[in-house]
Amino acid sequence: MKDLSPNKADLDPIEIASVDEIRNLQLERLKWSLRHAYENVPMYRQRFDEAGVHPDDLKELKDLAKFPFTYKNDLRENYPFGLFAVPREQIVRLHASSGTTGKPTVVGYTANDISMWADVLARSLRASGLRAGDTVHNAYGYGLFTGGLGAHYGIERLGATVVPMGGGQTEKQVGLIQDFTPDGIMVTPSYMLNILEGFHKAGLDPRESSLSVGVFGAEPWTNAMRKEVEDAFDMHAVDIYGLSEIIGPGVANECVETKDGLHIWEDHFYPEIINPATGEVVEDGEEGELVFTTLTKEGMPMIRYRTRDLTRLLPGSARSMRRMEKITGRSDDMIILRGVNVFPTQIEEQVMATGGLAPYFQIELYKSGRMDAMRVYVEANADAADSLSKTAAARMLTKHIKDMVGVSTEVIVGDPGEVARSQGKAVRVIDNRDKE
Ligand code: DLL
Repeated sequence: MKDLSPNKADLDPIEIASVDEIRNLQLERLKWSLRHAYENVPMYRQRFDEAGVHPDDLKELKDLAKFPFTYKNDLRENYPFGLFAVPREQIVRLHASSGTTGKPTVVGYTANDISMWADVLARSLRASGLRAGDTVHNAYGYGLFTGGLGAHYGIERLGATVVPMGGGQTEKQVGLIQDFTPDGIMVTPSYMLNILEGFHKAGLDPRESSLSVGVFGAEPWTNAMRKEVEDAFDMHAVDIYGLSEIIGPGVANECVETKDGLHIWEDHFYPEIINPATGEVVEDGEEGELVFTTLTKEGMPMIRYRTRDLTRLLPGSARSMRRMEKITGRSDDMIILRGVNVFPTQIEEQVMATGGLAPYFQIELYKSGRMDAMRVYVEANADAADSLSKTAAARMLTKHIKDMVGVSTEVIVGDPGEVARSQGKAVRVIDNRDKE
């Protein structure tokens, strides 16, 4: 793989500033953000008043813990524009996520917000090893989802050439990668596996492609998956994180030279980790739910937003800003089987560690008597699709999951191509527990 370590002179000075400098900037910005929210969004004023706190009560960063949380449901209840902190005419862009139940959640951006977003995304790409003059194939979905347009503006801000491909049409994706010879690709890790398959179908060697780095996010993925994709394409795979409510992609990103977790761009997004059951802030290094407060966002400030994403905070490394460990999963995606907590990422690790299996899987939950049970659908690699190899792989994966994750599952190994392919964010769990 190519050495993509960035030139330190290209970094934003704040990325390598002292921790004190970063904390001072955060305190100043946090005071502004709390005031902005309190003065311009009725929900925040009411919540702060009810909790008996005022923006003036924030004297140091840890005082943030006195302020109330904001939840996804607050966006639904204030649908569509109730959380905007500026007159609607100053909002230049809307994005929305459909969600599975109820009203969609809508987010709005001022021109300054769009510019800040492009800046943090460009910074993320630089951390990923890309630079001005490179070409980047953008296969995140365009439209109401923040992935496509968020990445697009960031690629342009970096000074790179964007190929605005969007999601789907795998064959065409492969053709364009061959013809335009991009240096980088931005896409969900699960869809990258479709593109890999597309290379094979076209009789092309992915290791011969022009790609030197993939910037993968929008869903949880493991280091085992990283290795799979890095080996297949002979390129670096780095993790990008973000969520619409906070800005979109580009809240945090891994550095290609260390790949040791994602640096949070803390000059714009202030992280806390809390115990999800009690709401108490925990120390850096401890696992819990990630909570974000925006420090500079004008259109729709977010105060202590509960992401439901589980991780922990680690000190800076290649950059001064703190890192978050790769996300284990969302608290909503946690499966509880006979008292054992299971995340789809744990199953992914075991699928990757089992010989003869392709990297595609889906989990089905169902009722067995009164108990919840789990079935894992995987598929055989083309060179191990005979019935003997499939039975052996099923037995091995069942054992790995039992030994390493601690639960009994049924494993079904299908033929190549049998597991549903991801078109963007992978659907990992099918819940049939309320079906007979
Ligand atoms: O998924 C934004 C995004 C687009 C991020 C492209 C990265 C790349 P939402 O649709 O609002 O926004 O979904 C946000 O996706 O709370 C996490 O649960 C999950 N997620 C996003 N990035 C990662 C990641 C976009 N790198 C939700 N690892 C978040 C694990 C991720 N989960």
